[in-house]
Amino acid sequence: MEDRYEMKTKVWAHRGASAYAPENTLEAFALAVSQKADGIELDVQLTRDGVPVVIHDETIDRVTSKTGYVKDYTLKELKKLTVMEKRFPAYPSSKIPTLEEVLDAVKASGIWVNIELKTGIYWYPEIEQKVAQIVQKCDMEHRVIYSSFNHYSIQKIKQIVPEAETAYLYSDVIWNVTDYAKNTKVDGIHPAVYHIKMADFLNEYIKSGLNVRVWTVNDTTDMKWLIEAGVTAVITNYPDVAVKIREQRENQNHAGK
Ligand code: G3P
Ligand code: MG
Repeated sequence: MEDRYEMKTKVWAHRGASAYAPENTLEAFALAVSQKADGIELDVQLTRDGVPVVIHDETIDRVTSKTGYVKDYTLKELKKLTVMEKRFPAYPSSKIPTLEEVLDAVKASGIWVNIELKTGIYWYPEIEQKVAQIVQKCDMEHRVIYSSFNHYSIQKIKQIVPEAETAYLYSDVIWNVTDYAKNTKVDGIHPAVYHIKMADFLNEYIKSGLNVRVWTVNDTTDMKWLIEAGVTAVITNYPDVAVKIREQRENQNHAGK
């Protein structure tokens, strides 16, 4: 199998191919694979019975017809719900998947998985241990990258799995973020596209040698300049578009030789 990870700028599907299928569902991840994304990004929260499930918000309000916190529902209860059926009529029966279900589903494709630990509002007890155990059980340690807005969670992952690939996720501007990441032995930084555009941060980031993966890159102009600049990855809801832009650029470069 071709090692997609060795190629230039990678395309990671944000919550799966979430422009086309209900976010963070098996359907959105399968679509990302078929659109030839190099990776998928997903968000993990814990159920009342302590199961890591893949859903972005702390509540189920936005993506299901019920309300309440993920942490107050058991997995069995969550499994009765349908995700975003009204907004995506082509997918009338998507479910909230467990992390294990997603890893099992994408494993054979060779795709990379960015697990975002959603510990910014609730710091779910033992979430880092539970997630690391599942990754190990699914034999996906070498194709998983952990990120979080909660940088303590990232350091916890490093304690549990010292060889794990990690990245700091952030949406505000952090002073000397590259030194901070290097000094705390984190492999990458995941900045927001809107802050990268505010000043010339990108140059500093790329020069640092850290993995620089920018989110959420949905605008084609942004895709173009970030791929041109050589960021490690763009994290996008439209993996098909980013893959095409990268391909066009490669073709142009070949034609110019
Ligand atoms: O991991 C990148 C991005 O997903 C972070 O923001 O809110 O979409 O999880 P959010
Ligand atoms: Mg996320």
